[in-house]
Amino acid sequence: MRKKLIAGNWKMNGSLAANESLLKGLLAGLGSPACHVSVCVPSVYLAQCQALLAGSTINLGAQDLSQHEAGAFTGEVSAAMLREFGVRQVLVGHSERRQYHFETDAQVALKAGRALACGITPIVCVGETLAEREAGKTDEVVKRQLAAVIHANGHCISEIVVAYEPVWAIGTGKTASTEQAQQVHAVLRAQLRAASEHADRIQILYGGSMNAANAAQLLAQPDIDGGLVGGAALKVADFLSIIASAG
Ligand code: PGA
Repeated sequence: MRKKLIAGNWKMNGSLAANESLLKGLLAGLGSPACHVSVCVPSVYLAQCQALLAGSTINLGAQDLSQHEAGAFTGEVSAAMLREFGVRQVLVGHSERRQYHFETDAQVALKAGRALACGITPIVCVGETLAEREAGKTDEVVKRQLAAVIHANGHCISEIVVAYEPVWAIGTGKTASTEQAQQVHAVLRAQLRAASEHADRIQILYGGSMNAANAAQLLAQPDIDGGLVGGAALKVADFLSIIASAG
């Protein structure tokens, strides 16, 4: 049985004051969660959040990392730097990175490799656009995105987490139906099984307008092992409620 993971993706939100109040609120209400919990915060706030989360059950995550190890890459943050701040997980290939920063499948695969090499779990995001879904290409797109990561990191693929995030559901209030989500998760699970005998322990998260009202139903699906939560992760009560649904 896979333990569930609820990961918050703060995106480019927060401030020193807002982060402190959000994390203190979460820690006050969390108790002993039945699932793993993490928050992926903007890199400039890693030190602050590391201090606030010290000794707690919430793991620290980041939202991106460089595909390079070190050197002349102005503005970038390496896996080793993230590691120094206690980062346990890092998003790679979020659709906003693919869309606005033109990240390719090959770059996403390299980033996943950099994270793995530093002992950080990459949360590999895959997902189709509305046009791709309407053209019947959902399975083809997510399989292509995941295949690149498997191809480059096959030897340790069971160490990754996958997040299925249909692009049309992110931040739009439109959630994939439980059937739509489970169907894609099953496709991804089959692909992982073909690549690794340990595929059944890989967590596949759903992301895209997950909220306190729809989380329980999504999380009850056999291949949905948690959630990658954007907007609702910025509100203490909503995030705690999603965590409680993953029990
Ligand atoms: P959302 O974002 O929950 O606000 O739709 C999810 C994500 O992009 O990770």
